[in-house]
Amino acid sequence: MRRWHASVLRSGPHRSIRNYGPRRRITSTGAITNETRPRPDPFALVAPQLSRIRDQFVQLLGSAHPGLDDIAKYYFLRPSKQLRPLLILLFSQATNGLGKHWPVKKWASGQARPGGRAEDLDCSLSRSDVLNDWNPRIPGKTNPFNSGFSLHPPEPHSSTSQIPNSNFTTPTCSLVSPPSILPAQERLAQIVEMVHAASLLHDDVIDESPLRRGTASAPEAFGNKLSVLGGNFILGRASTALARLGDPEATELIASVIANLVEGEILQMQEVHSVEQGTAASPSVVKNAWTIYLQKTYMKTASLMAKGARAAVVLGGCVEGEVYREVAYAYGRNLGIAFQLVDDILDYESADDALGKPGGADLQLGLTTGPALYAWEECPELGPLIHRKFNQQGDVELARKLVRKSSGVQRTRDLALAYANQARKVLEPLPDSDAKAALEALTERVIKRKS
Ligand code: FPP
Ligand code: MG
Repeated sequence: MRRWHASVLRSGPHRSIRNYGPRRRITSTGAITNETRPRPDPFALVAPQLSRIRDQFVQLLGSAHPGLDDIAKYYFLRPSKQLRPLLILLFSQATNGLGKHWPVKKWASGQARPGGRAEDLDCSLSRSDVLNDWNPRIPGKTNPFNSGFSLHPPEPHSSTSQIPNSNFTTPTCSLVSPPSILPAQERLAQIVEMVHAASLLHDDVIDESPLRRGTASAPEAFGNKLSVLGGNFILGRASTALARLGDPEATELIASVIANLVEGEILQMQEVHSVEQGTAASPSVVKNAWTIYLQKTYMKTASLMAKGARAAVVLGGCVEGEVYREVAYAYGRNLGIAFQLVDDILDYESADDALGKPGGADLQLGLTTGPALYAWEECPELGPLIHRKFNQQGDVELARKLVRKSSGVQRTRDLALAYANQARKVLEPLPDSDAKAALEALTERVIKRKS
């Protein structure tokens, strides 16, 4: 079993997360000093952009149908972690200027074209009377359905401005100062949050969750049908916004995340139960169960962070072969898995029989996560319970007791820490910047979080 995550531990030499430690600085008199710089607060570093993104959801999700309008905005009207947009914004700041095509992207960001100026990101690529994507909040740029449709000559819908004759092929290879985020990258941050919210609307139907973030879930408030349709509507709007970024690679990355989310959810439904070999915790059975669990964790949680971060770097002009794209993907992937492992631990920690707190939502849903998989190695009697998805009277309580008396939670925490350390380590090729330090700080926060 230990062998399973050996590669993660091997490639991350630091078993504990290091501090944003002393830095050598040359003073104006030429003396070398060691000074400790506090790590920047990741959220504070991009607070204005995060706040703008939050405000603009209501605009992007406007619909003339009041029921749809209400449900589409429902999960955006309450505070959320905004972890996914945060990753996009920090990676933009940490890499803009480094890519070979940065000068083209920078130039394009000032043009009236797809992926260009912020005010043009709402402009349709197709004629708006063909799209029929009426959004009453953007009346000048969208068209309501019109029963008549006449043939008329095509009109150019975006500027025909040409890329100026300049030396685009020479990479600048240095970060821009002050740090910048292109309008297309800020829009990408919104898009990933929309995809996430759409998945939560569907998830709350599947999980039959009465609550989300302490208040009524969408299915509880609006019913299952509207929740599913609302989720699909958000995905539709996110897809439109994605096309308008004018970058096929970013589109491909995010579209593939949507497929991963669905695959992850399906995989979760099967998980350990698809393991044919039986209920005994033999090394091969447990290893197989871990493979499925971590694959599911990537698809359901880490894929959006990994591919979203990579898409941000692509939009900043990093081309195939430049290491920053790989850094973004590897960071998002490791951080995402660490985040979900901690989530799975919190599900056990939130349960407290003495306080009458039921918790253990995963067990109630029949799900076997990291802590129970580790516990299974120590307590073979967990096998039959896992196999029948804890569906018999007393199964959930017994499983919780066995997991608590085992080292399952601690070992899952160690594994999460190994992934977080690996996320921090893959940042090494990035030049020093506040955004890089904030990304490092985020690896600590993910491990320490209590909710
Ligand atoms: C929350 O998981 C759910 C997800 C991270 C993804 C759910 C994905 C789907 C339902 C597939 C459909 C996706 C789209 C985009 C249509 P959780 O139940 O472990 O966490 P929770 O406690 O927040 O509910
Ligand atoms: Mg859920």
